[in-house]
Amino acid sequence: MSINYSERIPNNVNLASDRTLQRALEHWQPAFLDWWKDMGPSDFQGNDVYLRTAIGVDAQGWASYGAVKMPDYRWGIFLADQEAERKIGFGDHMGEDVWQQVPGEYRSVFRRLIVTQGDTEPASVEQQRLLGHTAPSLYDLRNLFQVNVEEGRHLWAMVYLLHAHFGRDGREEAEELLERHSGDPDKPRILGTFNEPMDNWLSFFMFTYFTDRDGKFQLKSFAESAFDPLARTTRFMLTEEAHHMFVGETGVGRVIKRTLEVMKELDTDDVATLRKAGVVDLPTIQRFMNFWFTSSLDLFGSEASSNAANYFSNGIKGRPDEAKFADHVESDTEMTIQVPDGQGGLKGETITVRNGMNEITRLEYVKDCNVGVTRWNMGIKRAGIDFELKLPSTRFRRQVGAWSGIATNPEGQPIAQAEFDARKDEWLPSDADKAFIKSLMQRVVEPGKMAGWIAPPDRGINAQAVEYQYVKL
Ligand SMILES: [Fe+2]
Ligand SMILES: [Fe+2]
Repeated sequence: MSINYSERIPNNVNLASDRTLQRALEHWQPAFLDWWKDMGPSDFQGNDVYLRTAIGVDAQGWASYGAVKMPDYRWGIFLADQEAERKIGFGDHMGEDVWQQVPGEYRSVFRRLIVTQGDTEPASVEQQRLLGHTAPSLYDLRNLFQVNVEEGRHLWAMVYLLHAHFGRDGREEAEELLERHSGDPDKPRILGTFNEPMDNWLSFFMFTYFTDRDGKFQLKSFAESAFDPLARTTRFMLTEEAHHMFVGETGVGRVIKRTLEVMKELDTDDVATLRKAGVVDLPTIQRFMNFWFTSSLDLFGSEASSNAANYFSNGIKGRPDEAKFADHVESDTEMTIQVPDGQGGLKGETITVRNGMNEITRLEYVKDCNVGVTRWNMGIKRAGIDFELKLPSTRFRRQVGAWSGIATNPEGQPIAQAEFDARKDEWLPSDADKAFIKSLMQRVVEPGKMAGWIAPPDRGINAQAVEYQYVKL
């Protein structure tokens, strides 16, 4: 169904046919806009931004581009088209018809999962709200705002499900999604990573590369769900999400590219010299990567999890790209995970595949993360520089699961806590690193110009020139 823009809430779910639901969402809409004005991008609300807006849910030509003031962005409800006679693709209900309503026995689980997903969307907007003041170019400023408005739309996606399928509880949860705030000591966001402060663009690019990619894998798991409206909602969200990870991958890539140019120019890899020249040395990029990657690993949950097993057996959440796995039931299959052996080493532990769903998804995520890292390394190699970026082990700096609180080196070998403490500034951004990165954050607003620490993009947005005025200040 095509998207109806003539209503107050654009949608392709025939919202007008359900007056109660429509009124409830129209009631939530001003609260959302108040939240956007208070907690969304600081300033820039009156500026024209070159944004894309969804106009259809097809793979081809689904968005239109044009100058929009952010508060006028048409946030709405867009579900991927319904698949005729879709069947449940995994778990104990395998082969049965998918559900158009939430079964009573799974109601609270679905509600919690939808609220947790929904909570991350506005959280990231809050984390990023001050970055506009230090954007390295108008092109980057526009990309930040594109990501922000789409995270706002992802909140709408989850709020629609809460309103449409969870009655009064759902409406209350939708209100609370606007009341928790990133980093708030009293009412923080639900997940740790989404309460981390973000005051620099290197972190923003790492976040959109690593943390938005966690989002991609969560959405891919939901896209398999037996609850069809959730599957359809998340399938369309994935279309939007791809751009966020593009911003991350090309952002980090451009920081590296600029560093390599200056390394060649000055013929040095001396950190102090490079920093004086105003670029980010490669070891610092590695440390920021270590931080955001490991923080995102925790979002997948414990390696062995009976909750994860229940989600799978009950058809609530599948594995990303479930179709590519050979066995969709996994009724008595087993797998091995690495756990601490209690004596400063590690050992294998056998668990059921169902209990290992979080770990399976996490490992798929790591593979996907490595694709971009390999591309970044190709750039470094082409420049003739002897340096390789490397993702740390999934055991490093974990705060959730079997390795929570266990000191390891980036290779994942357990070490004494004292050694970790002594070496952590080699492995994770130090206060000095953070202060240096912050010192680079100077705003550049002339169309086509870039801050000195980042290379220009290869091309502009939607076939526009890099010099295009993406935000009219
Ligand atoms: Fe999102
Ligand atoms: Fe995103």
